[in-house]
Amino acid sequence: MKLRIGSSRRKNYLCLKSEHLISNQTIQLVKDAMDIEEVVSDFVTLKRSGSTYKALSPFTNEKTPSFYVVPSKGIFKDFSSGKGGDAITFVMEVDGLSYTEAIKYLAAKYGIEIKEEEQTDEALEEQNKRESLRIVLNFAKEYFSDLLINSEEGKSIGLSYFKERGFTDHQIKKFELGYSLNKWDGFLKVALENAYNEELLEKAGLLVVKDAEKRYDRFRGRVIFPIHNVSGKVVAFGARTLKKDDKPKYLNSPESEVYHKSKVLYGLYQAKQGIRQNDNCYLVEGYTDVISLHQSDIENVVASSGTSLTADQIKLISRFSSNITVLFDGDKAGIRASLRGIDMILESGMNVRVVMFPEGEDPDSYSRKLGTSEFKKYLTDNVQDFIAFKLGLYSADAERDPLLRAEAIKEVVQSISIIPDPIKRAVYLKDSANRLDMDESVLIAELNKLLIGKRKSQPKENLNVQEVSFPSEPDTATKSHTDLIHIQERETIRLLLNYGRQELEEDYLLYHYLLEELSDIEFNTPIFKEIFSLFQEEHNKGRVVDSKDLIRNGSSAVKKEVIDLTTERREVSPVWEDKYKIHVPHEKDFLDHTVYQNITRLKRTIVQRLIEENKENLKGVTDHSEVERLIDIQQRLKDSEMELSKVLGVVIPR
Ligand code: UTP
Ligand code: MN
Repeated sequence: MKLRIGSSRRKNYLCLKSEHLISNQTIQLVKDAMDIEEVVSDFVTLKRSGSTYKALSPFTNEKTPSFYVVPSKGIFKDFSSGKGGDAITFVMEVDGLSYTEAIKYLAAKYGIEIKEEEQTDEALEEQNKRESLRIVLNFAKEYFSDLLINSEEGKSIGLSYFKERGFTDHQIKKFELGYSLNKWDGFLKVALENAYNEELLEKAGLLVVKDAEKRYDRFRGRVIFPIHNVSGKVVAFGARTLKKDDKPKYLNSPESEVYHKSKVLYGLYQAKQGIRQNDNCYLVEGYTDVISLHQSDIENVVASSGTSLTADQIKLISRFSSNITVLFDGDKAGIRASLRGIDMILESGMNVRVVMFPEGEDPDSYSRKLGTSEFKKYLTDNVQDFIAFKLGLYSADAERDPLLRAEAIKEVVQSISIIPDPIKRAVYLKDSANRLDMDESVLIAELNKLLIGKRKSQPKENLNVQEVSFPSEPDTATKSHTDLIHIQERETIRLLLNYGRQELEEDYLLYHYLLEELSDIEFNTPIFKEIFSLFQEEHNKGRVVDSKDLIRNGSSAVKKEVIDLTTERREVSPVWEDKYKIHVPHEKDFLDHTVYQNITRLKRTIVQRLIEENKENLKGVTDHSEVERLIDIQQRLKDSEMELSKVLGVVIPR
């Protein structure tokens, strides 16, 4: 068994109150005690491989291991999902926990007593407020569900409705379904009797307050679908009317301090294990779709519940899988509206597939129509990747109409351009070229056009975008000097972190070389500047820091950057090696060359930026001697650029 899910340990720590801030001291004790290998071993069977450990990824469904643990650095890295970090991150990812919950889990594992932070009054009050909201929401949930099962009205109206829809007792319990009485103050009365005040009821969205006299239950005569957050707490309700013309069909709780609807997915709590096990999440529209799929033995399903999909919701899913399959109702309006959702998923780096249903059917109706095994078969037989899906939207007419065909191609390339991973982009592009029976170079040209356009409009975000081809020199025509400096600084720090202790000559480490070479250079990017000066400080004290120290003690920004830089996969993906037979040597094979080139390139870019700045300065100057001075500087800068370029083997026209 790969994963131990829902083990008894979990219960222990979840019993702890989860709302209080854990003291820094406790966090430090946990960090000191935690051992990445031990922590991971509770979930995954590790195999030693030199100084690291290897395993099948607990986050994906892979056949060959690409999950690594590096005990010397206290980190893990999963190449199949891209996740990586320390033991805390691992527990958060594998069990879908918050930071606080993860610390509590580890504290329990290592027998560390949890001390809570002394809190400011405001912070305490905030917390108490949220806690009270959750308590009253939970009370309401119990109340509604009790009515459904035990009251005459609930049974004869609500329960019989659910039964008619084919929901079993098991699902009713699992989703904690309920019923609200058809009167104005059914809940209000009971809540007041239980000492909840009106203000709280209103804040929780359970009571509508018009004025001093007029207040009433929000949910009346409706069946109730509680909405849970990831850890299973009720944060809101959706309530369906049972009358034909009643509007709205579903009445939902308003936003509150514990319910931000763009950050919640209906059914995620009940689905998370299934999502992880299947390494896929089905995305549907409605409450009833979710429950019907569970009934059909498909538990990895969530609904965005009437709102269009948000980036936060995608992020929630990505904690459990990087694959989303969108199930579309069979109507055209819905499909057009959902195209944006597909692009958002691609943009977040996740994989997206699509299943469409016949006209007039939704997953709920269709699963009941087909029955469990036929429905499952329908899903596997009809799943398409987004390219096939997008092409399908045009295909009927596109074969005859060249303009439509061009539009279809643009649509597809546009979606591909959104995918952050260049290698994935390359693979999709090749695939599309085959399917469209087109020359790949045409698609590459189109894609590059889009990528460059994007970089211009938002340079910061796309710094590490590379074209599909493998340029040996960064493409100076399309990147600003500032972008290039960022890239080269990043590369410098990456080399420093990964190979700093490698000997270039006897008693002369790569680390010495870099510190010397860069002593008069100020890094432009704040995070790289921070990391570099940490190295310098330690060096001046006669110590050698390494990435492990930085991961342990750095600020969270430093920590994240260092993990990214030390786990980045430099080899070209196996796809290239296997499929295209492109062999790429490892950079260790020519490290001194790499470092030398990199530093030279960085210096040259800095010089080039100075040249640009100097040129700008020249523009407004009229004073003769000042002009001469600047021209002199310009000349010297040009000379340095020339020198550096010679080293790099590039000739620059003067
Ligand atoms: P649908 O109208 O497709 O409902 O809305 P449904 O899920 O098929 O419900 P049944 O089968 O008629 O009972 C899809 C989702 O949109 C949200 C709900 O989350 C619903 O499940 N919705 C719909 C609202 O929030 N309010 C509405 O008035 C209607
Ligand atoms: Mn429906």
